[in-house]
Amino acid sequence: MSPTEPIDLVVRGGTVVNADWQGVADVLVGGGRVLGVVEPGSYRSARASGATEIDASGRLVLPGGVDPHCHVGFTSGDFTSLDDYRQATTAAVFGGTTTIVDFAIPRPGQNPADVAAVQRAKAEQGLCDSALHACVVQWDDTVPEQLRSLTADGIVTVKMFTTYRGETMADERTILRVMTTLRDLGGMVVVHCEADHIISDVQERGEAAGEISAGHHAGTRPELAENASVAEILAIAESVDAPVYFVHQSTPEAVDLVARARGRGVRAFTETVAHHLVLDDTAYAGPHPERFVCCPPLRAADTVAGLRSRVLMGQVATIGSDHCCYDTAQKESVSHDVRAMPNGLPGVETRMPVVFSELVVRGGLPVGRFVELMCANPARLNGLYPRKGVIAPGSDADLVVWDPTATREIRSTALHMATDYTPYEGRRVTGWPETVVVGGRPVVSSGRLTDPEPRGRHLRSGPLSRSLVV
Ligand code: URP
Ligand code: ZN
Ligand code: ZN
Repeated sequence: MSPTEPIDLVVRGGTVVNADWQGVADVLVGGGRVLGVVEPGSYRSARASGATEIDASGRLVLPGGVDPHCHVGFTSGDFTSLDDYRQATTAAVFGGTTTIVDFAIPRPGQNPADVAAVQRAKAEQGLCDSALHACVVQWDDTVPEQLRSLTADGIVTVKMFTTYRGETMADERTILRVMTTLRDLGGMVVVHCEADHIISDVQERGEAAGEISAGHHAGTRPELAENASVAEILAIAESVDAPVYFVHQSTPEAVDLVARARGRGVRAFTETVAHHLVLDDTAYAGPHPERFVCCPPLRAADTVAGLRSRVLMGQVATIGSDHCCYDTAQKESVSHDVRAMPNGLPGVETRMPVVFSELVVRGGLPVGRFVELMCANPARLNGLYPRKGVIAPGSDADLVVWDPTATREIRSTALHMATDYTPYEGRRVTGWPETVVVGGRPVVSSGRLTDPEPRGRHLRSGPLSRSLVV
């Protein structure tokens, strides 16, 4: 701890939980950073006179959540999701997330670096910090230079898709070239894997059978399309010795492929998202199937159970939200044909409480591992650690005082996301953020926004280490 810096906030007497350590401690904060994590009461000194105190006794003190997968104001097909940075980050902080990683996804004909520059400038509208994934769709001679300038500007991860033909789908040769280029620049490709040729064929057959509406969504994007694509992308990564991160993996087989590759020394990582761990395909038989349309789709209950077991077995690196704030009217307007629908579920606000409740309280996941999946590993894999994802001297003072026993019934009317529904409507959860501190400022306290001033920063991600292992 710096011996001179004034302390302006003390979070007192809570159980501080990092991925690798937990214990009762006082967290000392000054200048927006953590100054020290010390024995309870030992901070009392002239340096702390006038400091704000937050009593965290009986509570957990977690690093602010880092959501590695969050789409803000995202345009896909004919639809744009309804939030801006202020709205998305307001919802994030109410849910205990203090860093989001958004995407800069080009429309056909747009240049990835230009799109990233536009999206990056929005960060300052946020109530918390944000970072970006870029996206490359098509290889051309300008791509290497764009990747160089993006990584030099702190955007080190690039999303690529093996589906959504005519929109964002990239061919395998483009993926190989981007992987190879990023490997040498300290970056990493993050891949959405669903074999498009299989999906298009299944969907054509679905159309012929009159089974292409939202209620049929799960069947139109089969598990084997995801598994086949993961195997292909792993082979590419292995052949060029490049790191690779798989977004929103939804099947245990896909996770196992990645784990086996890691066993061979491939730097391959699995992200799962909250809705694939908690919801299942019975949602498509309910009254609002369109509200649950996301890609990959919600899977059968036994697949969900298998995916959860992979989290508990330690095969999953991160849990994101894949937040997309479309509303019911947008989704309903084309729900007769899933191919035209806006995909994705709102979730940046509910990620932390839903995963804590389902996996820690009900599933027995150790709370340190929760922090690893929700905070530390997303920060590590996005070049943001140890600035984010840990409570340690020098890290940003993004902290969540978490009440592990508070129960809430999730209601969309009580949430802050810019939509009219939540896929978790009526679900009872245990565990809720009580106070959320961003950069040393308490911004949410007992369900109220206490500091609405937007002070978000675009975070420059550091190069990813060659020895990246999580
Ligand atoms: O359904 C989803 N996941 N929509 C958002 C875009 C994407 O593919 O991540
Ligand atoms: Zn995706
Ligand atoms: Zn996504």
